[in-house]
Amino acid sequence: MRTVPQDIPADLFGKRAKDRAVRALDALATARLRWTTLINRKDLAPRVDDRRLTVVVRERRVEAHDQDVVSLRLEAPDGRELPPWRPGAHLDIELPSGKLRQYSLCGDPADTRAYRIAVRRIPDGGGGSIEVHDALPVGTKVVVRGPRNAFPFAVPGHGSPAARLHFVAGGIGITPILPMMRLAHRLGIEWTMVYTGRSRDTIPFLDEVESFGGRVTVRTDDEHGLPDAAALLPGVTAETAVYCCGPVPMTTAITDAIREMRGVELHSERFSPPPVVNGVAFEIEFASTGAVVEVPADKSALATILESLPDRPYSCRQGFCRTCKVRVLAGEPDHRETVLTADEHAAGELLVCVSRSAGGRLVLDL
Ligand code: FES
Repeated sequence: MRTVPQDIPADLFGKRAKDRAVRALDALATARLRWTTLINRKDLAPRVDDRRLTVVVRERRVEAHDQDVVSLRLEAPDGRELPPWRPGAHLDIELPSGKLRQYSLCGDPADTRAYRIAVRRIPDGGGGSIEVHDALPVGTKVVVRGPRNAFPFAVPGHGSPAARLHFVAGGIGITPILPMMRLAHRLGIEWTMVYTGRSRDTIPFLDEVESFGGRVTVRTDDEHGLPDAAALLPGVTAETAVYCCGPVPMTTAITDAIREMRGVELHSERFSPPPVVNGVAFEIEFASTGAVVEVPADKSALATILESLPDRPYSCRQGFCRTCKVRVLAGEPDHRETVLTADEHAAGELLVCVSRSAGGRLVLDL
């Protein structure tokens, strides 16, 4: 789904001549943004939690007028309490086909007897969303892992230096944001929100979001046109923490705009894999067959491997769930994730969704 053009101007508010004091302030602000980013990257490494749990689908609801989003209420078969979670957490779901997929928890952490997830049907995706829609009727038992948190929510006054919050959600990106809004509301924190999407018919949980009243701005492409960063960040000033989840063009526009703002923190989660940065082409040899494939500079090793081995497991495609782990038998890897330990690196483990070769061919245990 495209909601924001990629070519957002770098400076939405016009260039200012920078004197020495402004340059110093800019340097401080940039350092703070970098620091925040580093903290976030550290937090991105989720607690390793391979707890597997059987739950049952107790309720299915259509959550968007276009019928393409369903939510599932998952409970323990005996109704007991489920492991706790915090806003931003997700579940790994083992689908009947064996595919593993991740979905943000979008219910209320205070409801200790149920998890809620919501999934948009994506006809040309990897098939996981179709399975959730078509193969998990009420009463189905399903195995989940987690919850894990790769999008941690730091509450102002409770661990975050920010004074207020601004949320931005694009379409199904509302799922991790909803519990954050609910918690902020419950704690009496100052917050605002922009919810965007193609049309009111396509965005899920509209009634739930609009029940928060004037703090929320719903702006859809069909009524207002594609939003620029200024439309997504109205009134955002220093000491605001921005939490954003949505399509890549949206998160990119917001990241670029916030880079130009002083004292604004950004926490974001994307739907899809980040683009390859500074990629260099390299070769992968499959140890079992000796076949060699070339990974282009702008493509991930996982995407290349899937062309030959379409059943290889994967889930997040962002380097934090570990599902795509493969052992390197020869060659020098360039690890681009933050979740594997030094011992795992030393043992040759590689997350092929983001990591690459440091130069030359990698022989993988495939
Ligand atoms: S698919 Fe999640 S770490 Fe690679």
